[in-house]
Amino acid sequence: MERQRSFSFKPTRLLVFSFTISSSLIFLTFLTIWVTKSTPSIPQETRFPSVAIQTMTGFSGNFSVNALKDSILEGAHLSKPENASGFSGASLTGDLQKKKNESQVAEHEEGANGGLNGNFTSMEKSAPAILFLKIESTEEQNAELNRTGGQNAELNRTGRQNAELNRTGGQNAALKKIEISSDGVVEEKRVRGCDFTRGRWVYDESYPLYTNVSCPLIDEGFNCQGNGRKDKDYMKWRWQPQDCDIPRFNATKMLELMRGKRLVFVGDSINRNQWESMMCMLMSAVRDPTRVYETHRRRITKEKGNYSFKFVDHKCTVEYYASHFLVHEGKARVGQKRVQTLRIDSIDHGSSRWRGADILVFNTAHWWTHYKTKAGINYYQEAGQIHPQLDVSTAFRKALMTWGSWVDKHFNPRKTQVFFRSSAPSHFRGGQWNSGGSCKEATQPLQTSSSSYSEKNTIAEEVIKQMRTPVKFLNITGLSEYRIDGHPSIYGRNSRKSGIQDCSHWCLPGIPDAWNELLFLHLLQ
Ligand SMILES: *[C@@H]1O[C@H](CO)[C@@H](O)[C@H](O)[C@H]1NC(C)=O
Ligand SMILES: *[C@@H]1O[C@H](CO)[C@@H](O)[C@H](O)[C@H]1NC(C)=O
Ligand SMILES: *[C@@H]1O[C@H](CO)[C@@H](O)[C@H](O)[C@H]1NC(C)=O
Ligand SMILES: *[C@@H]1O[C@H](CO)[C@@H](O)[C@H](O)[C@H]1NC(C)=O
Ligand SMILES: *[C@@H]1O[C@H](CO)[C@@H](O)[C@H](O)[C@H]1NC(C)=O
Ligand SMILES: *[C@@H]1O[C@H](CO)[C@@H](O)[C@H](O)[C@H]1NC(C)=O
Ligand SMILES: *[C@@H]1O[C@H](CO)[C@@H](O)[C@H](O)[C@H]1NC(C)=O
Ligand SMILES: *[C@@H]1O[C@H](CO)[C@@H](O)[C@H](O)[C@H]1NC(C)=O
Ligand SMILES: *[C@@H]1O[C@H](CO)[C@@H](O)[C@H](O)[C@H]1NC(C)=O
Ligand SMILES: *[C@@H]1O[C@H](CO)[C@@H](O)[C@H](O)[C@H]1NC(C)=O
Ligand SMILES: *[C@@H]1O[C@H](CO)[C@@H](O)[C@H](O)[C@H]1NC(C)=O
Repeated sequence: MERQRSFSFKPTRLLVFSFTISSSLIFLTFLTIWVTKSTPSIPQETRFPSVAIQTMTGFSGNFSVNALKDSILEGAHLSKPENASGFSGASLTGDLQKKKNESQVAEHEEGANGGLNGNFTSMEKSAPAILFLKIESTEEQNAELNRTGGQNAELNRTGRQNAELNRTGGQNAALKKIEISSDGVVEEKRVRGCDFTRGRWVYDESYPLYTNVSCPLIDEGFNCQGNGRKDKDYMKWRWQPQDCDIPRFNATKMLELMRGKRLVFVGDSINRNQWESMMCMLMSAVRDPTRVYETHRRRITKEKGNYSFKFVDHKCTVEYYASHFLVHEGKARVGQKRVQTLRIDSIDHGSSRWRGADILVFNTAHWWTHYKTKAGINYYQEAGQIHPQLDVSTAFRKALMTWGSWVDKHFNPRKTQVFFRSSAPSHFRGGQWNSGGSCKEATQPLQTSSSSYSEKNTIAEEVIKQMRTPVKFLNITGLSEYRIDGHPSIYGRNSRKSGIQDCSHWCLPGIPDAWNELLFLHLLQ
């Protein structure tokens, strides 16, 4: 980088010096905040008297959060996993129970494949924020300076932080200096062409964007706080790309972008994780207690039998469809027996419901690691032929090509935006899913991400490149790899009873919110 080498004349040195001083002060401040922090900063609302929720079955009215939760959950059958059998993937739990054996193997092997399968080493405890603000070299300092404006804005976001800063005296002065020095340099950073995968997690008190109370939709399996998780830091990190800023999620703006449209998530339970996150983030606009008079007429409705929520005032829907493989899970005869097969040449039969969507977010990953898919014996089917044995990578590629041609055939790129989310890492440590593997000890992100980028992601990238439709690859693997602290661990559903930790899914609020901020950013462009 040329401009960084030219960094030698005096004023800039001064700048760097003052920045170094101020970053040390920031460090101290964060340390202070970290040490003295005692109460959650987000006020947790308990009632939203003016939100009307209506289901298609006709009841409507104003509810307390609990009534709201019950009504939504009952409508969606979210809370009745035992009833899930009729609707594939109707609930996370149903999902897991239905194919418990495969699922557990899947989770376990995903963990092993996720690349972070070294044994759990003791997490270094230190001030969380500064680890990711650390400055290594003058080159980086330089870049850092350009970022300071953004940081200041960030710090400004909460009065509490400002007060914190004021308390340590002189801090503000230091910050101000940088504000002034970098004035004119702090322009809007280029977003187009920015590599969002390169960056760091920045501790940000103004997060999360919603709470377990403001969002009654959070599935039990993702509701870590509801299940007793006490630490809160994991909700307060924001992904900061190196070369650009991700705008804070703006639910009002997002709903405007989605007016009259269908946003559809299709994939495994991790996509359901992301869909729920999106719902929660959008509901905050509809249910913002400070804007009650503007918003009290807005409603969200839910259709029975599918996960299609409609934001009435914007005539848009946010939908989720379970599809573990994107291709069709069928049955075929092998000798005397009827066996389960995977039709890698045929799109999931539920696909008719995805058609007509305006924004689609696909994923498939975890289920390709369960023992049947991995062994590939008498499992993969094309037309009438069942492959006696087929290697999982070949099968995965063929399945994605099937998906790709289906997308190319059914969507007009000028009308529909298609995303494919890369695989989300698991973080089992000190064992496997069934041998005491855990992630419970983690309350802070990892300091380094072992960047093992799975073969599945590479295959997905290759398939996407061959498609006619321009598919955006939502590349969240690397950034999520840092976030060992973001899993439900023992605060998932039944985890404590079964003793099996969930180090595959993600707590909400949590990491999928960051994925959705990236999605938001792409939609803004
Ligand atoms: C809901 O609350 C609003 C304002 O508090 C009120 O005007 C409206 O009548 C209520 N609706 C029902 C169905 O109770
Ligand atoms: C399952 O759902 C049906 C109707 O959809 C209902 O009649 C039945 O009671 C439910 N069973 C359980 C165990 O919830
Ligand atoms: C469960 O998974 C193991 C492999 O881990 C396999 O040997 C066994 O047959 C499976 N059991 C059932 C009931 O599918
Ligand atoms: C991880 O721990 C197991 C015992 O729990 C040990 O056998 C294995 O060698 C360890 N692996 C690494 C990479 O340290
Ligand atoms: C800061 O970024 C601008 C472009 O946004 C660039 O022109 C300038 O050289 C950068 N300054 C430093 C000190 O890196
Ligand atoms: C920080 O907030 C103060 C007052 O709230 C404002 O004057 C200042 O411009 C803000 N600075 C930044 C960088 O946003
Ligand atoms: C911080 O201190 C400055 C003056 O030193 C004051 O103007 C400002 O209001 C203070 N901000 C907060 C949030 O206390
Ligand atoms: C929300 O989280 C708090 C802990 O922060 C917990 O006490 C409460 O039960 C949770 N509420 C719900 C509805 O999950
Ligand atoms: C969010 O977007 C709306 C509509 O575009 C805008 O009016 C509002 O100022 C935005 N809010 C923030 C905090 O940027
Ligand atoms: C959701 O289910 C309802 C009722 O079964 C149906 O009318 C509606 O078309 C479905 N929505 C989608 C997007 O499939
Ligand atoms: C996705 O991110 C990883 C790093 O996390 C990187 O190695 C890979 O090249 C990226 N892929 C794309 C298509 O951007």
